[in-house]
Amino acid sequence: MGNAGIKKSSAPKTKTANVTSETVTFTENVSAPPKSVEKSNLGFSSKKRSRELPKHIMMTKKPNVHWSDIVGLNVAKEALKEAIIIPIKFPHLFKGKRSQVTGILLYGPPGTGKSYLAKAVATEASYTFFSVLPTDISKSTRENKRFIKNLFEEAKAKKPSIIFIDEIDVLCNNRSISTDVGTVYRIKNEFFTQMQGLENGVIVMGATNVPWVLDLTMQRWFQKCIYTPLPEKAARRHMIEYFIGTVPHCLIPRDFDSIVMRTDGYSGEAIEELVREALMMPLRKVQRATHFKMSSGPSPTNSTVCSDDLLSPCGPREQGATEMSWMDVPGDKLLEPKVTVWDFIKSFDSSRPTVNSDDLQRFEDYSKKIKQRDLYS
Ligand SMILES: Nc1ncnc2c1ncn2[C@@H]1O[C@H](COP(=O)(O)OP(=O)(O)O)[C@@H](O)[C@H]1O
Ligand SMILES: [Mg+2]
Repeated sequence: MGNAGIKKSSAPKTKTANVTSETVTFTENVSAPPKSVEKSNLGFSSKKRSRELPKHIMMTKKPNVHWSDIVGLNVAKEALKEAIIIPIKFPHLFKGKRSQVTGILLYGPPGTGKSYLAKAVATEASYTFFSVLPTDISKSTRENKRFIKNLFEEAKAKKPSIIFIDEIDVLCNNRSISTDVGTVYRIKNEFFTQMQGLENGVIVMGATNVPWVLDLTMQRWFQKCIYTPLPEKAARRHMIEYFIGTVPHCLIPRDFDSIVMRTDGYSGEAIEELVREALMMPLRKVQRATHFKMSSGPSPTNSTVCSDDLLSPCGPREQGATEMSWMDVPGDKLLEPKVTVWDFIKSFDSSRPTVNSDDLQRFEDYSKKIKQRDLYS
């Protein structure tokens, strides 16, 4: 997916950008804002748009992800707060030799919450947030330069602002941007030029699963590199509980322990998928059931009231079993089966760790390199 090219319309006057999933079309004479709500690459909607930029780039609506939605990653959250929130809240602390960080790189295995952290920053920090995917940058050199220039100019005009470039490694991966080496070089060059001319109050934040792919100059340019590791035991337990939320279950502490053990090597995203799949199992039990029996439990319409005329799926030989399907159960009479450890065991069949130990070692080595760089810089 991406913006394959920029077409220029012939009509003169006011310049504005019109984006489809495949092209960024710079048309002229378009003054009325679009009626439809567009989706940006971080999944939030945006009604207003900048005159010079594709409309989905600048966030006008917060993505509604809060710091509290991010489980674990305390080091990353604290580092981001220090770099982003504190300078805005206490600007007097960042005068003279103590300057605000202008480049932050989030790196870590896929699914460890880098884009999610960016959404939290966009929600919690009072910055104008620009969210860009390298694929937003089209293949035509002149328009690329214009896009990048406009992006940084808009960010300066609307500061304090953050330009978030997700999957920033794609910018350095020649073939994904363009087959023309010259074009790739010019795009990178323009980025560097703009990044070097950053003023106080404008931050560039990048995210990548493969930090070692970035040019050395780009790696060095990011003063703050924040690692999002795979979740440790405690964070995995917290995530499992968080993703189960209020769904009824009958897991005992020992069940949690075994799920936590088996999720070693899983990312937050993989754990979320595992839990989501386990939470679906009771619904499948209902769909597949050939027999139901009378049961008592919290009323589906008012959970504070206990009803004793509910129906729950059961085996054909269980006492009180009546042959029927879920289609015969009135909507307000179903007693939802609780999620069990077996549901998790089944869910494990279709999930696996996100990264192997070689990949993890690569991240560890990279983190060591970054630490040394910071020590001697
Ligand atoms: N630490 C976390 N806390 C809560 N949810 C998480 C966490 N890490 C990942 N997730 C879940 O996984 C999804 C994918 O994470 P994402 O930020 O896109 O990963 P990345 O950008 O690192 O590849 C998120 O939308 C979120 O639902
Ligand atoms: Mg991501």
